[in-house]
Amino acid sequence: MIIIALYALGLLLSLLVITYFRISRGISYRGGVPRVGPPGVLGYIKTALQYTFDAELVITKGRADFSGKAFVIPTLSGPVFFLPPKYLEIVRSSNDDVFNEPMAVSEDLQLPYTMDVHQMENPYQASVLRTDVNRAIPSFIAEILEESNLVMAETLDSSGESKSITLPVFNTMTHLIARISNRVIFGTKTCRDPAFLRAIVRFSETVTLIAPFVRWTPWIFRRLVYIALSSILGGKQKPLRFIVPLLKKRRADDKLGQEHDKPRIADFLLRAASPQEPLEGIAMRLMNINFGSIHTSSIFITQVLFELALLPRGDLNSIREEVMDALESEGGWTKTALLKFKKIDSALREVGRYYGLMHFALPRISVLGHDLLDGTSVPPGHRVAIDMKAVHFNPQVYPDPDRCDLFRFAKMREDEEGASSKYGFATPDSNYLPFGAGRHACAGRFFAAMELKIMLAHILLNYDISFPPGVTARPANITFNGAIIPDSKAQMVFTRRQ
Ligand code: HEM
Repeated sequence: MIIIALYALGLLLSLLVITYFRISRGISYRGGVPRVGPPGVLGYIKTALQYTFDAELVITKGRADFSGKAFVIPTLSGPVFFLPPKYLEIVRSSNDDVFNEPMAVSEDLQLPYTMDVHQMENPYQASVLRTDVNRAIPSFIAEILEESNLVMAETLDSSGESKSITLPVFNTMTHLIARISNRVIFGTKTCRDPAFLRAIVRFSETVTLIAPFVRWTPWIFRRLVYIALSSILGGKQKPLRFIVPLLKKRRADDKLGQEHDKPRIADFLLRAASPQEPLEGIAMRLMNINFGSIHTSSIFITQVLFELALLPRGDLNSIREEVMDALESEGGWTKTALLKFKKIDSALREVGRYYGLMHFALPRISVLGHDLLDGTSVPPGHRVAIDMKAVHFNPQVYPDPDRCDLFRFAKMREDEEGASSKYGFATPDSNYLPFGAGRHACAGRFFAAMELKIMLAHILLNYDISFPPGVTARPANITFNGAIIPDSKAQMVFTRRQ
């Protein structure tokens, strides 16, 4: 009993000390960049709490108070130097010695606890995605399509008399993405194993929930907090128990010269790894790829479905016609046919512009500090990020920016000659940042685009989609700690088409 009381007291004292230092760092940084919210410690805490649950409110206030200038957002993890679009180019083009990305990701996801440290020290999983996986995309199309057909028939087809089924969209899409992605990450058997799917989905869904709490905790208690939260919410241990034996078998097969039916992403990673790397480390990289895929793509497809459900029937049919024309002219589901799904591509790009994953882009640690050339500066070691909405809602670039127009980019492609890939979903540019930009721009974006386009085309060709009776507007998003997440309770009706 005494030991527990002493432990609790120790925890409380450390929390107070660390919170004090964090706050004093938050209110006493140098460089003169103004901070949003009331002054002083209480002002910092109040605004940081507000940001945690309503980032938009705090950012909008910052934009209004310090128009066109950098401002500091207080967060529970320390101050964030929020930079207007004019600083995008310098952050985008700088290397990690100046504005460091792995450090920011590692902090955000608390990698030493939620995964491991090695994958950020030598992130070859990103290079494998950029090379082997991108090259293999055309060969993945048939498998992605087959798995979509199977899992959608199992999930979206009603088993009763009625042709309709009502489902929570976000959770359903998360499950579909996990299964379809893992068809090409590990293969048919693993992707259809319900226990594996449960473990990998729980892991991917909860990393971003667990990480902030670990990050807000004094470092000496972080492991404890991770163990406690992951035992409730689901951490890395369960998926590891599936993946490590799988890798062991694949490596043994490779040594015996036994060919697999088809190389999967797991094989690409095994071949890129040094022979000394423990299988657990490779497994963790594959879990990171799973996280990268499941967490993001499920949000995008859900946002598109929410918007599609409100489109007039004529517009929906025009998307279906474009898909059917492309399949017919290309003789089936090929890479070139997918390139012709311009309306689906445009819908994906528009939800990226309008909603995105976060309120900010390009989170980086300013290693050396940065002179903002207006009499203020970012001190060394502090976090910067670009104001994403200031970029995505610029009326000079995007007329009528407050309207989510799924056909916006398809029209821009038509209006501008030679702009075909320029406005494609997976093309980042200085006016489009959901995939980040520069040397660290999302390594899986071509994979995501291929998978999402196949899934959406398949849903549209085979199902009518609508909100349940009485729902006339799309469900509001939930925001937490700067992230934008679709409402997981929102439901949609899927009705098999003739
Ligand atoms: C709609 C889907 C996706 C979105 C919106 C998205 C978004 C992002 C963003 C914002 C970044 C950080 C870029 C930066 O800070 O400059 C990133 C990096 C990354 N993403 Fe994605 N992502 C998606 C899908 C995927 C998929 C499917 C995979 C894996 C198959 C993946 C793997 C990665 C990896 C490995 C990185 C790190 C790249 C590096 O640090 O060099 N992503 N992604």
